[in-house]
Amino acid sequence: MKVFVIANQKGGVGKTTTTINLGASLAKEGKKVLLIDLDPQANLTSGIGFSQQFAKDSWQTTDEAPYRNIYDVLIEAIPLSSAFVTTSIPNLMLVPSHLSLAGAEIEMVNMLSRETLLKKALKTFNEKIDYVLIDCPPSLGLLTINALCAADELIIPIQCEYFALEGLGQLLQTTTLIKSINPTLNIGGVILTMYDSRTKLSESVVKDVKEFFTEKIFQTIVPRNVRLSEAPSHGKSIVEYDPNSTGAIAYMALAKEFIKRF
Ligand SMILES: Nc1ncnc2c1ncn2[C@@H]1O[C@H](COP(=O)(O)OP(=O)(O)O)[C@@H](O)[C@H]1O
Ligand SMILES: [Mg+2]
Repeated sequence: MKVFVIANQKGGVGKTTTTINLGASLAKEGKKVLLIDLDPQANLTSGIGFSQQFAKDSWQTTDEAPYRNIYDVLIEAIPLSSAFVTTSIPNLMLVPSHLSLAGAEIEMVNMLSRETLLKKALKTFNEKIDYVLIDCPPSLGLLTINALCAADELIIPIQCEYFALEGLGQLLQTTTLIKSINPTLNIGGVILTMYDSRTKLSESVVKDVKEFFTEKIFQTIVPRNVRLSEAPSHGKSIVEYDPNSTGAIAYMALAKEFIKRF
């Protein structure tokens, strides 16, 4: 089992979209994949189709969740496997999030080994899983730090937009600091997302990022594709929602590259 953290403290760069669709594509390739939603916004949880039934009532409140989720794993120390849910794709499992996770960082502050709660939860479970993908909130707080401490590989999505590299220095610095707790954490790869072939800007961002990260970059670049942004509102990954879209084709290619690399 290999654990991947999908992180970039910038919001809207494609972390959640990549976690869902890379995860679904890896599952289609026959891999056993576990997605962990570590963002209180729970976009991954709703985007993969879980929690849609809760959307209208308790879902949007900070009250106790009507289902077991990553908050219970981190704060109440329930076993990770007891928060597992299946998805519409065989081989693709999820540990959901809930808005109540928003208070978790404050609750964690006084907990013993607060940086390694997720690592501990992952250590003590023995399901047969090939890849664990952890979707992070857009910050470098304790939740993201837990993911970095639990992971073998850091995957950084970068949006092909102006200021693409902004804040990455801080992420890399945090990663270096985390190595005192998790010495084997490696920068596994950089994924360029939302590439728009009609603009010169996307092209120049790709050039800059390639200079900075060299061989870490995945060859597959994810294009801007409206089908990718529509899919979550149907609670579906792109490989189910529109398998012939440019977005689906890119994530399937990315999954093949990913399997070769890891
Ligand atoms: N390749 C893409 N093409 C079009 N829209 C995208 C693409 N990737 C992400 N989006 C959309 O951009 C927004 C931000 O993406 P998201 O994955 O939620 O970012 P993050 O998790 O980093 O905040 C979402 O509305 C998502 O649907
Ligand atoms: Mg997100």
